[in-house]
Amino acid sequence: MVILGIDTSCDETSTSVLKIKDGKLIVLSNIVSSQVKLHSKYGGVYPSLAKREHQKNILPVFKEAIKKAGIKGKELPKIKKYINNRENEIAGFFKEKELADKFLSFISKNKIADIDYIAVTVGPGLDPCLWVGINFAKALAFSWQKPLLPINHIEGHILSFLLPKGRRKLINIRKKLKEVNLPIISLVVSGGHTELVFSRELGRKYKIIGETRDDAAGECFDKIARILGLGYPGGPAISKKAAEDCRDCQKITLPRPMIHSKNYDFSFSGLKTAVFYKNRETEEKTENYIRAMARESEKAIIDVLVKKTISAAKEFKAKSVILSGGVSANKLLRASLKKECAKNGLLYFQPELDFSTDNGAMVAIAGFFRRENAILPKKEKLKRIKSMPNLKIK
Ligand code: KG4
Ligand code: ZN
Repeated sequence: MVILGIDTSCDETSTSVLKIKDGKLIVLSNIVSSQVKLHSKYGGVYPSLAKREHQKNILPVFKEAIKKAGIKGKELPKIKKYINNRENEIAGFFKEKELADKFLSFISKNKIADIDYIAVTVGPGLDPCLWVGINFAKALAFSWQKPLLPINHIEGHILSFLLPKGRRKLINIRKKLKEVNLPIISLVVSGGHTELVFSRELGRKYKIIGETRDDAAGECFDKIARILGLGYPGGPAISKKAAEDCRDCQKITLPRPMIHSKNYDFSFSGLKTAVFYKNRETEEKTENYIRAMARESEKAIIDVLVKKTISAAKEFKAKSVILSGGVSANKLLRASLKKECAKNGLLYFQPELDFSTDNGAMVAIAGFFRRENAILPKKEKLKRIKSMPNLKIK
């Protein structure tokens, strides 16, 4: 079975091809076009700008994913005739004429790739961005007559620990799933989300047991980095600064919001505000001051995330912890959570670094688990698939 995964939920345009045969999974391609450079000027993602970039990048990214995957296309005269007769209907899936024209030109000149499903993120995410991926996936499903799988981006993040790194690396998915003792607590930390999710069965049912009341953990990294003048995305910039030699740094103490609260919710805006005031008070912003601030901010965020995850795992009698989302690329978070899990007798899982931030492969793997939700490629059925910017995992 071959699944194409598409994600355009935030600032990465990504398409991936995943193959699963006899329980063995391989990522044939995972192409990510990042808009980081563009948004770094503004210190955050601008949805309308991001949408335009997705429109520009989605077809080239898709073509590259198909090419790199090396999935032999088929010349199917019947479908070719069908496409020729429906050019207007296909173009009707797009909001932008230029993209519609380019898509039609591609689809009429190329073979139909050997895929069984098209999986696309429908939410949560930025509404204008989500629509670009959804419209593209619908047009493709309709043209190639392939079933469409609407995917929750958060579920993709949670399942991303299953993805093997490297184009030729196989993983036995059944065996890997057996390694995960149930139930599970997942910590999902990204630019838009900070959630603790309980699950008795992966790929089926989830319950959010705690989430952020204001800023997400990644957003907190991004905002603090902006205050300190460290650029965007903030997470990697802060951890790079925090890792620099700081033997002569002054000691800075920042709050750990809600670390002792009796629930599993988070709040990071107070931490950002504390950094803001501290920064305003500090006249001389020396290199050592920036390093100390970066170090303490990173530590504060991680302390809260780790403490709450372990408490939740204990209360809910979880046997495994899964870390995921863009912030899961943070080395200190990975090491701290792993260590605390070991101390508390919990199994710990994390995605390969390539699959920590947004990517199409995580959408494809979620599609594998959600095959029963496939939408047949009929125009009326496809039309009902909409963007769900605030979609919750359940
Ligand atoms: O999951 P993701 O790629 O996009 C969303 O769905 O939001 O996450 C992006 C977030 C950004 O806020 C970025 O600063 C953060 O992940 N991030 C990191 C690191 N790499 C990315 N945060 C901390 N440490 C990192 N190494
Ligand atoms: Zn994400």
